[in-house]
Amino acid sequence: MTRTLISGGLVVTAADELHADVLIENGVVVALALPGRHHWTAERVFDASGKYVVPGGVDAHTHMELPFGGTFASDTFETGTRAAAWGGTTTIIDFAVQSKGASLRAGLDAWHAKAGGRCAVDYGLHMIMSDVNESTLREMPGLIGEGVTSFKLFMAYPGVFYSDDGQILRAMQQAADTGGLVMMHAENGPAIDVLVEQALARGETDPRHHGEVRKALLEAEATHRAVQLARVAGAPLYVVHVSAREALAEIAAARDLGLPVFGETCPQYLFLSTDNLAEPDFEGAKYVCSTPLRPKDHQAALWRGLRTDDLQVVSTDHCPFCFKGQKELGRGDFSKIPNGLPGVENRMDLLHQAVVDGHLTRRRWIDIACAAPARMFGLYPRKGTLAPGADADVVIYDPHATHTLSAATHHMNVDYSAYEGRTVTGRVETVLSRGEVVLDRGQYLGRPGHGAFLPRSTCQYL
Ligand code: URP
Ligand code: ZN
Ligand code: ZN
Repeated sequence: MTRTLISGGLVVTAADELHADVLIENGVVVALALPGRHHWTAERVFDASGKYVVPGGVDAHTHMELPFGGTFASDTFETGTRAAAWGGTTTIIDFAVQSKGASLRAGLDAWHAKAGGRCAVDYGLHMIMSDVNESTLREMPGLIGEGVTSFKLFMAYPGVFYSDDGQILRAMQQAADTGGLVMMHAENGPAIDVLVEQALARGETDPRHHGEVRKALLEAEATHRAVQLARVAGAPLYVVHVSAREALAEIAAARDLGLPVFGETCPQYLFLSTDNLAEPDFEGAKYVCSTPLRPKDHQAALWRGLRTDDLQVVSTDHCPFCFKGQKELGRGDFSKIPNGLPGVENRMDLLHQAVVDGHLTRRRWIDIACAAPARMFGLYPRKGTLAPGADADVVIYDPHATHTLSAATHHMNVDYSAYEGRTVTGRVETVLSRGEVVLDRGQYLGRPGHGAFLPRSTCQYL
């Protein structure tokens, strides 16, 4: 039996802040106790005095190796989960993709093959449904039985991932009957495609036009429609990557009616804006993602939504494409820029910065980054908290250390940082995954294959 003791730190969970020692045996937290009031011994002791001891982050929205726009997201499961660990995230939930015409099974098997034996930290899988039909609907309960309990549908990207309203309603009905959770990319894709065509015809080809055609109202309209379809189906709904205050208002209105509607936003919508999309010399391409970055004045509404629980989760939507050779595919035509931003390594630090800046309390930081995503996707209390019986996914976090985010020092396999030059207060010092030390004071000690697939139960907010 291996015993590890983390002593003297301030343990912060979504529920509590307490000075406590944490005892870990065989990869599991077995006890918390008042410092000095126990006689625990351990082979390995970490002194966390002056530091926070927090649950490992749960990033419920990543896309390692996602095929998109004729290329692939540049992080593999190996490089992406290593970067996650560097940033204090010890669980990711990635998206397996059903290709059009193929089965969900084939997509899921392909993603298991990509991820299996390669991850540094534990991982779960959602399923992207790009072809809702009788046969794929029938497959949904089987996937739920295997621990893939959430299904992403797209109201955007006609011809690629898009589902029409009838398909969405059918998938929601099946989710309602079987306990699945529909995750919605809520943007009116057909309308956006018209605006893209018109913009390009006017010669508006720069990255900033990506943000202009993907209008906030079209995110809000799709969000409203998704909520009504979920009501008709009697299904819960989780809206991914909410960026527009008008879309958030639709979620808040649904929640005020007591509907099981949930929302996620991402660090890029909280810290970046259309000013980044407008950077000259095609630099704006680094910030092309969908939903798009919004004008700065949307950020206050998102922070408020996180405080009032109209938004429950902050995930990264980590979907990196290198500037050289990948983002550059869209020079002269913004619609050809692969959509997505890197960030899996930065989320815990950026959200801690939000604590420093007064947007969030410490407990809310841990709630939106660890506990709520674990609950939302059926992993709690194994993940997302520090309590007897939880996996010993633990981060010792130095709240006073400062560092500067940069492509020169990050570990994501991408040639730029969306947060280049931004100095943050707070830094991951030590990371344990199921009791194994993955990172300690700047030294990476993890290995591919340590991370295990996590079969998930259904949403724990229902
Ligand atoms: O721009 C984004 N978000 N890329 C990843 C795919 C998606 O829609 O989540
Ligand atoms: Zn999406
Ligand atoms: Zn995504």
